[in-house]
Amino acid sequence: MQSLKDGINSIREEIKETAVSNAEQLEQFRIKFLGTKGKLKGLMGEMKNVAKDQKREAGQMLNEFKQFAEGRFEELKAQFKTNVTSDGDAATDASLPPLPNETGARHPLSTVQEKMISIFERIGFTVAEGPEIEDDWHNFSALNLPEHHPARDMQDTFFISKDPDWVLRTHTSSVQIRTMEKGVLPIRQIFPGRVYRNETISARAHCFFHQVEGLYIDEKVSFADLKQTLYHFVQQMFGEDVQVRFRPSYFPFTEPSAEMDVSCFICDSKGCSVCKHTGWVEILGCGMVHPNVLKNTGIDPEKYSGFAFGMGVDRTTMLMYGINDIRLLSENDIRFLKQFK
Ligand code: DAH
Repeated sequence: MQSLKDGINSIREEIKETAVSNAEQLEQFRIKFLGTKGKLKGLMGEMKNVAKDQKREAGQMLNEFKQFAEGRFEELKAQFKTNVTSDGDAATDASLPPLPNETGARHPLSTVQEKMISIFERIGFTVAEGPEIEDDWHNFSALNLPEHHPARDMQDTFFISKDPDWVLRTHTSSVQIRTMEKGVLPIRQIFPGRVYRNETISARAHCFFHQVEGLYIDEKVSFADLKQTLYHFVQQMFGEDVQVRFRPSYFPFTEPSAEMDVSCFICDSKGCSVCKHTGWVEILGCGMVHPNVLKNTGIDPEKYSGFAFGMGVDRTTMLMYGINDIRLLSENDIRFLKQFK
């Protein structure tokens, strides 16, 4: 009996001291003191230890305490005018204005990347991914990047460790190597993902960005296949009327190599700040896979040939949505993201 009394007194004090300032705390209060596993139920369980002749008194005490606890709950509830009933069900009050239903939105980078992916999927490419932390072989050596090539310079590459070299991949071309090494031919795949470069962060450059890489290897793949595939891609991506031009370029892993420009879709090639008044914007690098790269991955260059390409997702996203600062794409400022609903 004494322990029941002590229990009631201490819980009463606890209830008095419990401050509640929102509906969630009110619900916690209910669970803690009045719930099916709450303290009041605990006290009731102690009735069985009370001597027979004291049961009546103990019952009255408990009853009085129960009323106190429930009364306190009602008081607190009235304070917030919530719809929580004493048994915890949230009742619906149809007269209340609806709560705002905040839905999320796709990130513009995801939207553009998914559009790129789906265009290639429809012409038979599948999607694969590779690790963002790469060894020297997959990021550089196997891609025919000679040891003193400037792209290996500390300026561009984030090193995780030296000797053996582990880097944050500087391009998604590393995933080409991983796929070719598996030795399953033909290959018709695209590789989306994040890449890293040790750049000074500004409105135009970031230390990480996103690429979609493509690779097609089979017997008798020609430069004409490369052109036709990419031509199809840009028409789907930017519209039927888009013009393209290929400029000769250099990449260690392709021979010949090219860069592809599309007619500026912002100003219709009339000349604007985006195309720097040239009427053209560069969107990707491409070329025929270098025989050394095929050899490095155990593919016979006498029998197989292929093309590869790599494009930036961030720049295209900025162009398509008129975003003028690349940093906005990774800052997760809700005011920016809300515009893409
Ligand atoms: N890896 C190159 C870069 O990051 C882009 C690239 C160019 C990828 C030509 C390719 C390619 O697959 O064939 O700038």
